[in-house]
Amino acid sequence: MKGIILAAGKGTRLHPMTTIVSKQLLPVYDKPMIYYPLSTLMLLGITDVLIITTEKDNNMFKSLLGDGLEIGIDIKYKIQEDANGIAEAFIIAEEFINNEPITLILGDNLFYGHGYLDFLRNKINDIEGAIIFGYWVKNAQAYGVVEFDKDNRAISLEEKPVIPKSNYAVPGLYIYDNQVVALSKTLKPSKRGELEITDLNNLYLNKNSLHVEVLSRGVAWLDTGTQKSLIEAGKFIETIESRQGLKVGCIEEIAYQLELIKKSQLEQIIKKMPENDYKDYLKSLL
Ligand code: DAU
Repeated sequence: MKGIILAAGKGTRLHPMTTIVSKQLLPVYDKPMIYYPLSTLMLLGITDVLIITTEKDNNMFKSLLGDGLEIGIDIKYKIQEDANGIAEAFIIAEEFINNEPITLILGDNLFYGHGYLDFLRNKINDIEGAIIFGYWVKNAQAYGVVEFDKDNRAISLEEKPVIPKSNYAVPGLYIYDNQVVALSKTLKPSKRGELEITDLNNLYLNKNSLHVEVLSRGVAWLDTGTQKSLIEAGKFIETIESRQGLKVGCIEEIAYQLELIKKSQLEQIIKKMPENDYKDYLKSLL
C-alpha cells in the first residue's frame, strides 16, 4: 500500500502565520505538523509516500524530509497548482498510484491512541471499495458528516451540513481501492469550486462499497486548521509527552522501532542534530 499526504491548500484561516510558511510545516509543540500524519502512515506500514504541496512550499518540504531514505522510507513530491479540492489529489497522483490501492491522509490531521490502526494493517492491501472513519465530535457541522442506520450502516454523507444528521465527523484519513482515480475524474467541482472528498465517498456509498469504521472515544483525532485547534493540538501533545516522557509522531523513533533503519542509521541521524531535547530523546532510544 502507498500513501499520500495532502499538504497544499491556502491556509487562509491561519493567516498571517501561513503567509510565508505552509500550514503543515508549522510547529505542533515540538515538531513540524507533517511529522504527525507521516508517522500515522508509517505506523500503518506504508513506506512509499507522496507529499502534495503548493508550488511555493515544495522546496521547504523537500529540505525537511528529503527523499525519506534517512528514515528508511521513500518520499516523492508533487505540486497542486490551486486548492481545487481534496479529491484532486488522486488525479495529481495518478502515476504514483499506478492503479493500486491508496491511503490518503490530510497534512493537518493528527491521530493518537493505542492500537487504533491495528485492525487495518493486515486488511488494507486487499481492500475492495473504500474505508473511511467516523469520530464523535461536538461541532460536526465543521466537517464531513456520516449518518448511520440502526444497524450501524452508513446511509448518508454530507460535507459541512448546517444541520448535521449525526455527531460523527469524517476524519482526514481515507483508504481506497484502485478505482479511486477513475472515480475522482468523474467528479464535478462543488459550489465552493472544489472536487470534494465527500462527493467521492458518496460515489462509493452509492455503489455499496463504503466501509465506515467508528473510531472509539479512546482515540484522539485533532485537526489543526484554526488558531484555536492548532494551539489545542500543541497543548495535547505537550501534555502527553511531558507525562510519559515518550514522544508522539517522532518519525525517527518509529523508523527505528519498525526496523526501517538500523541502529547505525539512527546514530547518523543523531550525529547531525544540534544539541537539544529532541536529540537527547533519540539518544535515549539507543
Ligand atoms: O479534517 C477533516 C475534514 O477535512 C473532513 O471532515 C472534510 O470532509 C474535508 O472536506 C476536510 O474539511 P476541511 O474544511 O478541514 O478542509 P480544508 O479545506 O481545511 O482542507 C484540509 C486539508 O487539506 C488542509 O490541510 C489543506 C489540504 N488541502 C485542501 C484543499 C481543499 C489541499 O492540500 N488542497 C486542497 O485543494
